[in-house]
Parts: sequence; structure tokens; C-alpha cells
Amino acid sequence: MSDGEETARGMARGLTNYGDRDFARYLRRSFALSMGYSREALDRPVVGINSTPSGFNNCHRTMPELVEAVRRGAMLAGALPVEFPTISLGEPYLTPTSLKFRNLMSMDVEEMVRAQPMDSVVLIGGCDKTVPAQIMGALSTDRPAVMLVTGPMMTGRYKGERLGACTDCRRYWARFRAGEVDAGEIAKVESNLATTAGTCAVMGTASTMACLAEVLGFGLAGSATAPAVHADRLRIAEETGHIAARLATDPKAVRPTDLVTERSLDNAMRILLALSGSTNALVHLAAIAGRAGIRLSLRRLNELAETTPVLVNLKPVGSNYMEDLHAAGGMPALMWELRHLLNLDCPTVTGETLGDRLSGFDPGMIDHSVIRRFDEPIEPKGGLIALFGNLAPDGAILKRAAATPELLEKEARVVVFSSLEDLAARVDDPALDVRADDALVLQNAGPTSPAAMPEAGYLPIPRKLAAAGVKDMIRISDARMSGTAFGAIVLHVSPDAASGGPLALVRNGDRIRLSASGNRIDLLVDDAELARRRADLPPPLPPAERGYAALYDRHVTQAPSGCDFDFLQHPKAR
Ligand code: FES
Ligand code: MG
Repeated sequence: MSDGEETARGMARGLTNYGDRDFARYLRRSFALSMGYSREALDRPVVGINSTPSGFNNCHRTMPELVEAVRRGAMLAGALPVEFPTISLGEPYLTPTSLKFRNLMSMDVEEMVRAQPMDSVVLIGGCDKTVPAQIMGALSTDRPAVMLVTGPMMTGRYKGERLGACTDCRRYWARFRAGEVDAGEIAKVESNLATTAGTCAVMGTASTMACLAEVLGFGLAGSATAPAVHADRLRIAEETGHIAARLATDPKAVRPTDLVTERSLDNAMRILLALSGSTNALVHLAAIAGRAGIRLSLRRLNELAETTPVLVNLKPVGSNYMEDLHAAGGMPALMWELRHLLNLDCPTVTGETLGDRLSGFDPGMIDHSVIRRFDEPIEPKGGLIALFGNLAPDGAILKRAAATPELLEKEARVVVFSSLEDLAARVDDPALDVRADDALVLQNAGPTSPAAMPEAGYLPIPRKLAAAGVKDMIRISDARMSGTAFGAIVLHVSPDAASGGPLALVRNGDRIRLSASGNRIDLLVDDAELARRRADLPPPLPPAERGYAALYDRHVTQAPSGCDFDFLQHPKAR
């Protein structure tokens, strides 16, 4: 309960905001009665349902039936469910990028959960930025909260092949750019990539965050992977409502800050590694940790990567889809295989520990073509690592599992693009001086740039090289990459170029050295020359004058701090 709130439950509980608690209760009750509730209903504990439908969010299309099932669960358990909206973030529809608005959504969730009379809350989200935004907001209020994801899409079919957004989107687009697929065929593919409600069908950011929400204990066992249109999804929703009702009446209820600890964050990073999950998850995990007063350590990620095998065979790195992961046993199965590496004493929102959740688990149901045995991994070491070096003093991220192996230890000449506009203008120019063994560098696409860290790190292979059969090149930027993409791609270079990080000092023709085994990314230019270039840098852009953009420009942090706003972080994490 926040300050000034009485311990009484119910939708019409009185607050002291008129200096007269009884008057406040009377007034609120009269308005609540206007919605047709009985007095009996209004005295029940309240389960808030944070509903996030939007005509601009295809991934949340099933919201009405999920809300209905959560309501049923909460009511069967004796609570009054009350739905309320917050903003929704649909990945494909936000300009300049959805990440810019994740913190706005987290503020909306935090303030509406705190301000309105609810005893617990069910957070329903799914698309990439919504789940981290809701967990961040819940951590800041610390009111008991259960996460329900909308669930992944089922795959589509085209010429006998399964297609899933959006790894197959990229694969076909690359073939189109290389001239292997014509305009008529790409149009047919376009209408078969995303054919049901739900989040992207591969281990992209939405799926990764759903898995991490379950493993952090915010979601029920099995809740991450059930497809959006599967009956399991509705049963999970009903059970989620039931759990939220229990939390609403339990004075010792598990709270969000009980769930996010150094030990549970280690579990989350292990699962991320075993999944070969999205690089974006590291930004979101850092932001989630920051709300709980913990700084997520990229060096710790590297330690964990050394001992965590890749077990899950899903696109974009492998060959399966989320529907297959669900059928293979989902997160309980993956946790069972990884059980010796996980902190099984970590709590979950149901009151069970992770270990309790595994106690009745039947390993005979695991499909090992999708979730490998611990001792027969896809890769013995984790696929996501942090790099450090003079190009990225505060770190950069490389998804080595998704890269062409020969590119992981390499020195290369660089071709520099100074912004997204410069990239768009020149990358396909036949006269561009670029060779297959060069590295491409993109500047000014980080969190403090006007682009606000879009998923532009998957730089296109210049058309003339793509047409000649080049499939992968080293690409380096301060941007992010979609969790559904792949390649030898160094991301999140920190500090970013727009804030004057060393990435801003790279010039055409310089040489860089990438060493995945040494966790390094270095610019092979001497310090005196770098100092000269630094003196010539233009001054930083002034912040926006008004609106949310002004708040963003003044307060956004770098990727290793999760790109959260400094004033939203727990003081201990700043
Ligand atoms: Fe929403 Fe991919 S577009 S998860
Ligand atoms: Mg995505």
C-alpha cells in the first residue's frame, strides 16, 4: 500500500484526498455504483486488469478474450476484477522506434497501478516493448502483479514451407534484394508471414521477454509459450486471474521486488543464453534490474555464457517456431534441463519456488529435437556475449550464435555511415567503395541520437555485394537489432556516438579488430589521432524543447543501464 492509503479493500475504499476519508469513500462509492455494481461486489478485493488492446497492435488482437478469462478466474476466486487501459506499443507502427516509448508505457503502468484502488494487478502484454514496460512499472509500484503474455502466433504456410514472422520475412527480403525472388512472389509471401493473432512466431524479443517473465517468476509455469490462439492460453489466463485474487488478499503476498534479485537475474541470463534469445532482452533486463536497484553486469553475462549451453533450437538461430517450443515442454522443460545451473530457490508469483515448479515435472514429455538434453547441447557455450575495447568502453553486444563463424575473429577495413539517412542514401550506390571483407559501421543510431536506438543494427548488405552472393559481413553500430535477425552484428556500442562515444570517431578506411573469443572490439587507430578527431566533433544536438521528447532527451540512459530514464531507476542502480 502506498502512503495515505488505508488497509481496507474494495473498489470504493476511501482515500484522504479531501481531508475527509468518509466523504471520499462515499463519493467514490456513488460513482462506482453508477456502473451498476452491487454493494457486495464493491467490497470484494480488487484485481486490476491492465488491458492493452490497440488498433495499432496486431499482437494484442486477442485481448478481449484474455481479459474475459482473467475476469472469470478472479471472480471464481472471490475478487472483483476491474479492467483499465494503458497505452499499447505495437512494434511495427511506432516512429522513430518503439523503444523510445517503452519508458512512457512503464510510467503509465506505474502511475495507474499506484493511483487506482486495486489490491493486485494482472498485466496483459505481449509485443516486444510491452512486457518489459509493464514489469518495470510494476516494480516501481511494488504492488503484487502477475504477468500474462498474449502468446505467440502460429506459423503460416507457403509452397509447403512453414513461415513465421519475422525471421522468414528477413530471409525472403534478403533473397528479393539479391534478385532471387521477384516482386510477385514477395507479395505472396507477405500475406503468409503473419497469419494469426499473437506475437512473432520465433525467438524474437517478444518471445524472449515472455520466457524471461516466466523464469523471473512473474508468469505462471508454461505461460510463456502457449500460442495466442491455443486453448491453453485461455486456461492460463483464467489461472492468472485466480492467482491475482489470492495475491489481493494475502498480506504476505509476493511482490515484484521479491522476484527481481541478483540470483533471479542470473537465472534470466542463463535462460536467455540457453535460448539464444534476443539481444534486446539485455536492454530490457538491465532496465528491469535498475528498477529493483540492481545494475545488470555485462561481465557477469560473459561469465555465465562460458558455462551455459545453447539448448533451444528455434529460429532465427535454429529451425523451429514457438508453437514447437510449447509442444516440446516450454520453459518448465528448459528449466528442467538446466536445473543444475539455476537458482531454484528463487520465488515466483504463485508462492512456489522455481524448484517447486519442477518437482512434479515429467521429463519424458520433452521433445529433444526442440529442447536438447543438457549434455547434448547445440553449442556448449552461450550465444550472446558482451564485447569491450577502445571502441566500446562500456560494452557492446554480439550474438555469436547467429554469426558466420569465420567473421568472429577478424581484422577489417571499415566503411562508415554517419547516420540512418546516410546509410539509406549510399548503401546501394554501385559506386560505393566496399568489399566483401570490409566491416560496415553505422553511427548516430544510439539511445541519445534522434533515431532513439532503432533496430537498424542489421545493416543491409550493399546490393552489389548481395547480388554477388555475400550473405554476412561484420556490422557495427550503437543501434539495436530485431530479435528475429541474424549475422555478425555488433550492437549497443556504448557510450553511443551521439553522446560522443568512440564510435563517433571512426572514419572510412580505418581498421577494426573483432575477437569474439577475447570479448573485444577495437579500433586500430592511435590515441593521438583519436584525440584530434575528438576535438573536431560537432557539438551535441540540443534537447527537444517540449513534450515527451524533451523528457526523453534529458533523461535517457545508455544501453548498459537499459535506456531507462535516470529518474525512474531505483537510486541504488544509478
Ligand atoms: Fe509484436 Fe513482433 S510485432 S511481437
Ligand atoms: Mg521484434
